[in-house]
Amino acid sequence: MGKIVAANWKMNLRRQSGCELASALKTDGRECWLFPSFTLLAPIADTLIGGTLKLGAQDLSPELDGAFTGDVSAEMLGDAGCTMVLVGHSERRHGHGEQGELLLRKLKRAAEAGLKPLYCVGETLEEREAGRAKEVVKEHLSVLKDLQGTCAAVAYEPVWAIGTGLTATPEQAAEMHAFIRDELTKLGLTDLPILYGGSVKPGNAKDLMTQPHVDGVLVGGASLKLDSLRAIDDVAREIG
Ligand code: 13P
Repeated sequence: MGKIVAANWKMNLRRQSGCELASALKTDGRECWLFPSFTLLAPIADTLIGGTLKLGAQDLSPELDGAFTGDVSAEMLGDAGCTMVLVGHSERRHGHGEQGELLLRKLKRAAEAGLKPLYCVGETLEEREAGRAKEVVKEHLSVLKDLQGTCAAVAYEPVWAIGTGLTATPEQAAEMHAFIRDELTKLGLTDLPILYGGSVKPGNAKDLMTQPHVDGVLVGGASLKLDSLRAIDDVAREIG
């Protein structure tokens, strides 16, 4: 498999801008994984029919159906055209207090509904400075032990590099990705791709994606504009 480019649009874009971006990527024949906001999923799914782009949501409920106001179930996401879903993004872990048991329930629910999770892990600056980065990432990964073969990929997103303009150096990314690769092997998950996320831009994508065990990138801010997303995808294609 070539390098993977995934776009997390977070709480950005509208129906017109999102559909235009998705349809331009489709016309280019790009193979991105797109994670738009809930309201954009169904219209974008219609745009993507027949192309190679994959559609995912940014979150899901751990519950099946029922009285859960404001939540969206895995089955609803499948119904809207999703095949994937983000789980454990740091903005959910830190902004909404999601962790361990809840994330495991979400991962299981996604798998039961036939959605492939992209599971995100990563340490805060405080944890890195305290020398605990690997310990934290290992703990985040530990929930995958009962989920053989259900995830699409893991994304390493150091919290201090998300939306801050700070990027892990290629060496820092390489060290953590090698660690994650070892941990996944211990969990029996030998083939799971590992993406890097955190201020990925056209200018740093090559240095990051050429590191060992960096199988692609999960892009936030730079995925909101066609030019920068195309430029990152061009790098991915060039590396192959
Ligand atoms: P930025 O690329 O904006 O730093 O966001 C990264 C991210 O959180 C992707 O999920």
